[in-house]
Amino acid sequence: MAFNRFFGGRKSAPLPPPDELDALDDREAPSDEGEAEEAPEEAPERSWRERAEAVLPTGASTGSKRAEALYGDAEADGPTHFIDAAGCRVTAVDGERYLDCTMALGAVALGYAEPRVTRAVIDAASQGNVAALSSWREVELAERLCTLIPCAERVQLLKTGAEATSAAVRLARTYTGRTHVVASGYFGWHDWSSDAAGVPAGTKRDVTRVAFDDVAALERAVTAAGTDLAAIVLEPIVERLPSTEWLARARALCDAAGAALVFDEVKTGFRLARGGYQEVCGVTPDLASFGKAMANGYPLAAVSGLAPLMESARNTWISSTLASESTALAAALAVLDWHEEADIPATLAETGREMRAAVDRAIDASGVAGVQTLGVDQMWLMQWDDPRRESAFLRHAVREGVLFKRGAYNFAAVAHDEDALREIEAAASAALVALAEDEA
Ligand SMILES: Cc1ncc(COP(=O)(O)O)c(C=O)c1O
Repeated sequence: MAFNRFFGGRKSAPLPPPDELDALDDREAPSDEGEAEEAPEEAPERSWRERAEAVLPTGASTGSKRAEALYGDAEADGPTHFIDAAGCRVTAVDGERYLDCTMALGAVALGYAEPRVTRAVIDAASQGNVAALSSWREVELAERLCTLIPCAERVQLLKTGAEATSAAVRLARTYTGRTHVVASGYFGWHDWSSDAAGVPAGTKRDVTRVAFDDVAALERAVTAAGTDLAAIVLEPIVERLPSTEWLARARALCDAAGAALVFDEVKTGFRLARGGYQEVCGVTPDLASFGKAMANGYPLAAVSGLAPLMESARNTWISSTLASESTALAAALAVLDWHEEADIPATLAETGREMRAAVDRAIDASGVAGVQTLGVDQMWLMQWDDPRRESAFLRHAVREGVLFKRGAYNFAAVAHDEDALREIEAAASAALVALAEDEA
C-alpha cells in the first residue's frame, strides 16, 4: 500500500519526543569548519539545476530563483539549490556555504530558521496543521494585526502577496461597484495586474499603469478613469521613498472620486515599520496588503483595511483551503512577539545602513566606476551602468562566498551580524577588484 511507504504500516506516526524539539533552540549556523548537511539524495549524475530544468518549465517555481534571474546569465555556474539555511547563511547542495544578502526576496527579516519561529511552527504542526474548524491562531493574529496596522479594522488571511493585493482590488471593486484601477508598482503574477501573455486584453484595459512618484501621471489616469475608478493601488516605495505629495494626492483623489486607496505593503510591512510605510508616511490607505517578513519565510499574507470595505468580503468570494493553516499563523505570531520585544525595523535600518556602507567603501576603494548603492537602508540595491558588468560582479562575489541580489533588493536581516558585515565588505572588494582586472 502506498501509505505504508510513509507510515511504515502504523495507524498514526508518533510525534517526536519533546527533547528533540528542544534541541532546536540551541541550533546555530554551522561553523565554517563544520561539516555541511548532506544533500537529500546520493550525488545525482545530473546536477540539481539540470534536473530542475527538465521538470520545471521555467527552471524554478519562484521566478527570481532561476539561474538567469540570480546571475543575469542562465549559464552562470553559481549555486541554484540549497539544503540548509540558518541565520544569514545558506548551504548549497554541493556543501558550499554562502552569506546571503537577498534573504529569500525579503521573505525573511529575522534570519533563516530563527529558533523561536521554528519552534512555534513545529508546535503548530504537531497539534494538527488543519482541521474541520478554524485555528484559534487565526483570530489571535487578526486581532494583533488590527492593533499594529493603522488602516486595519478587519483582516483576512491568505497565502501570498499576490493573493492579498488581488483581494484588496476585489474588495475595492465590490465595495464601489466600479472596475477601473490605477496602479503603480509590482503586485505579483495575478491577471488583474499583469501584462504577461495569457492575460485577457479586457483585463489589461481595466488597469492604467502610472510611473512611481509621478503626480501628473496619477492625476491624468484618475481623470481618464472618471466615474469608473474603483481604486488607486500603490507600492509605496520603489527603490526610493516617494514624495509626500504623491501619496497625499492619491489620498485626495480617492476621497474626491469615492474610490479606495490601497497600499501594497508586501515588502514594506514589518520592515520599514511594523504597520508598514503607512505608519510613518502620514497617509493612511483604505486597504493594505502584507506578506513576506510578516511570517519570516512561512507562506502567509494578509489583506487589511477599514471595516466597511473589508466587510464587502461578504458580497464576493475570497477564500482558500489553506489560508488558515496553523504553521504560518504560528510563525507570524512568533514574529509579532519579536516585534513586541525589540524594535526590529530600527535594527533592520541600522543593519541595512551598515551593509550599504560596507559596499560603498568597497566601491570607493576599488575605484570601479558605474556602480552605486541606492534604496532605503532596510532594502537597498546596487545599480550598475551595464547588466553584463553586474553579472560579472555577482559571479565574482559568489566565488567570494556572498550572494548579492541582481537588481532590487538586498534585504537587511537581524541575522546580519558584525562578522557578516565584514565578510560582505571583503567579498564586495574582492569581486570589484576581479571585475576591474577583467576589464583592464
Ligand atoms: C510589492 C509586492 N507585492 C506583491 C508581491 C507578490 O508577492 P508573492 O510573490 O508573495 O505573491 C511582491 C513580491 O515580490 C511584492 O514585492
